Amino acid sequence: MGKVIAVAQQKGGAGKTMLTAQLAVALAVALSPNSKIAVLDIDPQGSLTIWGKLRANAAKAAVPIASHTVSGWRLGSELEKLKAAYDIVLIDTPPVIDSDARRAIRAADLVIIPLNPSPPDLWAAEGTLKLAAEEKRKVALVFNRAPAASRLRKRLEAEISARGLKLFNNALANRAGYANAFADGLGVSEISATTPASLELCALAEEVKNFLL
Ligand SMILES: Nc1ncnc2c1ncn2[C@@H]1O[C@H](COP(=O)(O)OP(=O)(O)O)[C@@H](O)[C@H]1O
Ligand SMILES: [Mg+2]
Repeated sequence: MGKVIAVAQQKGGAGKTMLTAQLAVALAVALSPNSKIAVLDIDPQGSLTIWGKLRANAAKAAVPIASHTVSGWRLGSELEKLKAAYDIVLIDTPPVIDSDARRAIRAADLVIIPLNPSPPDLWAAEGTLKLAAEEKRKVALVFNRAPAASRLRKRLEAEISARGLKLFNNALANRAGYANAFADGLGVSEISATTPASLELCALAEEVKNFLL
């Protein structure tokens, strides 16, 4: 059975969809060459589904990522099928805790919560943290659009650690490369493997892999 990663956070614009797409490609690169990775879009906005469609025609797409879309009562059975067919299934969730998001979290081996290193983003994550705790799911936070060092970031790190929550050591900075790669249906490493974006994402994927497996 494959492992399921749900990317969740009630705050819109936190980077859920970007992170789901980028992690899918980076994990495919980090795992063995014939590992099977799928993404599942359960957000009605459908941005990840569009990324998947762009990817299908992207000449630079170097690793295969299967892209699926589902919502409502079919979610449970679709997830079972995907878990049987893939090594890792990454789910991009909507910015609300509705019944679909609950199902995704319930099915997840790991819930990843992207957040800006600022208090309102941590407040916005409370609902997801509570739900993951209720469902006894493994959870990790990851800073997105993070400045290398700032007082606010340090303060959030201290708060997260004081609460006994897991924060990945590797954060993603604010980089145009993420938005550009997404717009072409690609992962950042498929544009260039040596950019700061590729390097930090690769380090994060390694950390995610070790925490998950
Ligand atoms: N680290 C980042 N650097 C630059 N742009 C980013 C970064 N993270 C997200 N974005 C951009 O911000 C916007 C919102 O991100 P998105 O992943 O759609 O958020 P969410 O799915 O949580 O609503 C998108 O245009 C995305 O490309
Ligand atoms: Mg989204």
